Amino acid sequence: MLGEYLKLWTILATLVVIWLLTSMWKWIKVGRYLPPGPWGLPVVGYLPWINSLAFLTFEELRKKYGSIFSVNLGPTTAVVLADWKAIKATLVDKSMIFSGRPYHHTFETATKRCTVSFNDGKVWHDQRRLTIKCLRKVGVGRTKMEEIVSHSIDNIIDHLKTKNNQMVSLEDVLFKNVMSILWKMVANKTFADGDKECDEFEKMVTQIMISIRSNNPINFMPWLRFIPPNGFGHWDFVALNNKIYEFLNKQINIHLSNWKEGLEDDFIDHYIAAIKEHEKQTLGEEKHLNTKRLTGTLWDLFVAGTDTTVTTALWGFLYICLWPEVQKKAQKELDEVIGRERLPCLSDFQSGKLPYVDAMIMEVHRFASIVPLSLVHCPLDTVEIFGYKIPKRTPCIQSIYNVHFDPELWVEPKTFNPERFINDKNEAKSPPYLMPFSIGPRICIGESLATQELRLLFGSLLHKFNFSIPNKQNISIVPQVSLVVKPKPYKLLVQLR
Ligand code: HEM
Repeated sequence: MLGEYLKLWTILATLVVIWLLTSMWKWIKVGRYLPPGPWGLPVVGYLPWINSLAFLTFEELRKKYGSIFSVNLGPTTAVVLADWKAIKATLVDKSMIFSGRPYHHTFETATKRCTVSFNDGKVWHDQRRLTIKCLRKVGVGRTKMEEIVSHSIDNIIDHLKTKNNQMVSLEDVLFKNVMSILWKMVANKTFADGDKECDEFEKMVTQIMISIRSNNPINFMPWLRFIPPNGFGHWDFVALNNKIYEFLNKQINIHLSNWKEGLEDDFIDHYIAAIKEHEKQTLGEEKHLNTKRLTGTLWDLFVAGTDTTVTTALWGFLYICLWPEVQKKAQKELDEVIGRERLPCLSDFQSGKLPYVDAMIMEVHRFASIVPLSLVHCPLDTVEIFGYKIPKRTPCIQSIYNVHFDPELWVEPKTFNPERFINDKNEAKSPPYLMPFSIGPRICIGESLATQELRLLFGSLLHKFNFSIPNKQNISIVPQVSLVVKPKPYKLLVQLR
């Protein structure tokens, strides 16, 4: 018996010594040049102290360690860019170096390194450029897209008219219509009301967003996926993700068999045209623009382009119920500028006629900070920042939340106040540190589409309806955890104006 105990203690002591030696070696080689930060425990690092809303922990750590600090997340050491000064010095002033994406287990599994969002270097650059080009070709930022978005907004208005004077949840109707905009743009596909495929897709996207959140423990300890019964939900996530790929591939195959040069009608058609052109230009060379990457790009558009826009809208409607004076001011502006006979259109916004509604949307972006830690970046080469040496491919987490709530940048940051964006000339202006879509060469490629959607959505719905929550006691603005932070489910009272 004693012999067994001694054996066990010898094994444990050896493991501790190995851990101490490797930690010391890591520290001598890299750690001592990194920004300071809290230590943590063997194997798990600082993870046990990290709130499920990690940006709140980073806010606390920033008070102790300043703009930039290191934190051990399992065996990985990450650098947190915790304020505007640090984000500007990296993602803006050294933007190309910081345009990398480090290894991130769930993203790696989900994207198969075929997407724009989780790639870097030349392949990412070319794929991103092509995606933006195809988005422009289908009319993003132009009248053609406005028609598609307006059609969906008419559907939402029709739906809400049938719910007049009732308490409703907006989530489903918003999700279906944002999804429909994307399907129309991507594959010229429309969904009928109550379409099962659309419902299924909504559930899949929501679940994927939860699984790829940065603080999923699988990202720091990938071996957890082998722990029974289902590896912390990892295998359900893999199956679901494969289903999304199947669904997208089916659409691509239909397009490939019907594709005719010069008759491109939607995003997939334009992308196929570019792949064919690329094949001609790279005869005999490796081809990095291919149908696999097209599937990856579609994954990006659906996963990154639905939940984000819907979540921003859901926060917005919640805030205007909690701050009813904001709703009144927006409606007054809409009544005075647009009149009661029509709905607002994009040119009303572009010509600066609706500064209050625009400022309200900016404040929703700031206050909700729906992607509080953005997507993780890494330097493509070892780089020096503020006297610290950050090795090539170290994960760098930008805390958009900390920037949006920094009292040195914003007056009373914890108050919802659209007026902060309106200048003396009654224009809505946003400073560079309002960065809901991030900043630098990896800035969100859906910014223009999301802005079009949110302007038309808030402008039209506030013009048509009054929204309120009669009993606010049960309402919380503490978010749920996913890759994006979402409001807890709520219902609001809809009344025709
Ligand atoms: C309110 C809505 C949205 C918000 C707040 C948002 C926010 C973001 C943020 C913070 C990033 C990370 C950028 C970085 O790594 O520095 C991002 C990336 C991305 N977003 Fe969005 N997004 C929104 C809507 C959309 C839409 C509508 C689409 C597409 C239809 C989209 C597609 C993408 C893609 C593909 C990337 C990866 C870009 C890259 O890695 O080069 N997003 N977004």
